Amino acid sequence: MDVTYDFSKKVVLITGGTGALGRMLVKKFIDSGAITISSFHNEKEAQKLKIENPQVELIKMDLLGEEQLLKTISQLVQQFGTINILVNVVGGYLGGKNINDLNETEWDAMLNLNLKSAFLISKHVIPVMKSGNGGNIVHISSRTGQISEGGDSAYAASKAGLIRFVESAAQEFKEHKINVNCIMPTTIDTDANRKAMPNADFTKWASTEDLANVILFLCSSGARVINGSAIPTYGLS
Ligand SMILES: NC(=O)c1ccc[n+]([C@@H]2O[C@H](COP(=O)([O-])OP(=O)(O)OC[C@H]3O[C@@H](n4cnc5c(N)ncnc54)[C@H](OP(=O)(O)O)[C@@H]3O)[C@@H](O)[C@H]2O)c1
Repeated sequence: MDVTYDFSKKVVLITGGTGALGRMLVKKFIDSGAITISSFHNEKEAQKLKIENPQVELIKMDLLGEEQLLKTISQLVQQFGTINILVNVVGGYLGGKNINDLNETEWDAMLNLNLKSAFLISKHVIPVMKSGNGGNIVHISSRTGQISEGGDSAYAASKAGLIRFVESAAQEFKEHKINVNCIMPTTIDTDANRKAMPNADFTKWASTEDLANVILFLCSSGARVINGSAIPTYGLS
């Protein structure tokens, strides 16, 4: 479905814009007129993104290193003046392992990638929004953050933690007109998931466009009364 928004003059930072959902968000925000910046991590994926979307601004960012993150955010503010919207897409999955088989490194990696990254990027983008006219932040949790089916304790804990993190951030910054929300997808219709689950019914999976439409709405003025929410986006499954 084609839903259109006008984000012209808005500066949008998408972390993980080179991933499956991130790429769709980059395209949708550019189509809606935004100055669209994507963080990247892997050089090759960033080049592909630039070929698909020549208007995207790319910035190398390690979401897990606070010192480097702080420097990149200030560079970005110098170049673009502000950040109005943050969509934090960076994340990953680890499943199929029970607690006794999970090692400490795997546990830490999940918690860092899905939860610490959200804390660090928020910590350094929120002051920029506070000194401007407020802003909108959307993180990507998961249905597994609400209910786990087993074998995914580290992932489930990280995505559940993200929901509480969003609630806290929403309360802390509402007086600065900063809305913080997250969405809770289940399996997204991506190439990687189709390859991993070739016999699944793909019609039950949300497309990246379905999810991008919800995220753009959450970043729009129409969603100004939505703050601190975890939006279920698994209605097709
Ligand atoms: N796919 C699903 O079925 C599903 C279901 C529920 C929730 N989610 C959540 O939805 C989000 C997007 O999923 P997706 O399938 O689009 O993911 P994806 O294709 O695997 O993309 C992940 C993105 O995160 C970036 N990234 C990974 N580690 C990073 C790090 N240390 N620093 C900076 N960037 C890093 C990757 O950058 P590089 O490419 O440069 O490495 C990539 O852009 C994630 O938060 C995921 O947990 C996904």
